Amino acid sequence: MARMLLLCSWMAFIMAMALAAFSTQADAARAFFVFGDSLVDNGNNNYLVTTARADSPPYGIDYPTHHPTGRFSNGRNIPDFISERIGSEPTLPYLSPELNGERLLVGANFASAGIGILNDTGIQFINIIRMFRQLEYFQEYQQRVAGLIGEEGARQLVDQALVLITVGGNDFVNNYFLVPFSARSRQYSLPDYVKYLISEYEKLLQRLYDLGARRVLVTGTGPLGCVPAELAMRSPSGQCAAELQRAAALFNPQLVQMLGRLNSRIGADVFIGVNTQQMHNDFIDNPQAYGFVTSKVACCGQGLYNGLGLCTPLSNLCPDRDLYAFWDAFHPSEKANALIVQQILSGTSSYMHPMNLSTIMALDSRN
Ligand SMILES: *[C@@H]1O[C@H](CO)[C@@H](O)[C@H](O)[C@H]1NC(C)=O
Ligand SMILES: *[C@@H]1O[C@H](CO)[C@@H](O)[C@H](O)[C@H]1NC(C)=O
Repeated sequence: MARMLLLCSWMAFIMAMALAAFSTQADAARAFFVFGDSLVDNGNNNYLVTTARADSPPYGIDYPTHHPTGRFSNGRNIPDFISERIGSEPTLPYLSPELNGERLLVGANFASAGIGILNDTGIQFINIIRMFRQLEYFQEYQQRVAGLIGEEGARQLVDQALVLITVGGNDFVNNYFLVPFSARSRQYSLPDYVKYLISEYEKLLQRLYDLGARRVLVTGTGPLGCVPAELAMRSPSGQCAAELQRAAALFNPQLVQMLGRLNSRIGADVFIGVNTQQMHNDFIDNPQAYGFVTSKVACCGQGLYNGLGLCTPLSNLCPDRDLYAFWDAFHPSEKANALIVQQILSGTSSYMHPMNLSTIMALDSRN
């Protein structure tokens, strides 16, 4: 009798293990697509004639290869940590010649540093992949995958995929506030500009849905006025720059409302709001609690707060990158990226709305 019980529980154990192995395999098969700007670009701009690039040292100094890759970080970025969490390889830049054959099935990264919601954002960077073009590439990608695994296979791969989109910060930093009396700031008051951005963003997200995306993490903008570049240029006292803070404070809640509108129109939680503002504010309010010595000074740069100009081989470089929330004047360090993804994975509803990535993965593995 005891032996029978033991056998039964042993069999139950084996079945549970087999199920677990099956479900991790299903997770590993989930494709991942990334859209947006430099916060999530994995190297597309390396293939373009543009000044918005991160393909020379010391970028990548802490990446596993210790070489620059085009990521705007000392090491891995937010998409890399998400790939790790869903159990897949990092996505390749869509423009990479290595992205072909079976590797297409992992997904793709369409993001391009410098772009914004609007086409006229980042014009100074010349040749970058604007949002409408990233979405055209997504369509082209799906045709290539259909050639590999058939139309139905491609449709399913996209249907079950996870998507990340990070865009909007540049519409302020590299457009409205780029120069005093910019064209957009003469055209719109800040609240009206934010309304316009949200309405254009809504069209882009609707298009992403129409192209088959069904689980989309949408990040808000960080506290734009607190990055080392803005402290150096606008607020030497070290207080976060007021007008950019106001922009983020207007934009983020309206973004969450817009995602709610889209979801209720669709009748499903397709779009998940990621409160990057709160995640960054945590570091800014109490850097020591996260193991940072500062959240005001960039690790790589020069001038006040190391926030002026670009991060180049001639810049000041901090010896321990993990002690800095900001790698360069605008972009988080690898350590900060890891902490952000931890919140994406398991944050409460004030960070992830309406649910976190763990909940999404649990829900989607049941379907
Ligand atoms: C951006 O440019 C593309 C191509 O010219 C165009 O189709 C699209 O409507 C433009 N988007 C906006 C918001 O103006
Ligand atoms: C987020 O994820 C964790 C699992 O890591 C879960 O326990 C928690 O309840 C989730 N929080 C919310 C608010 O969904």
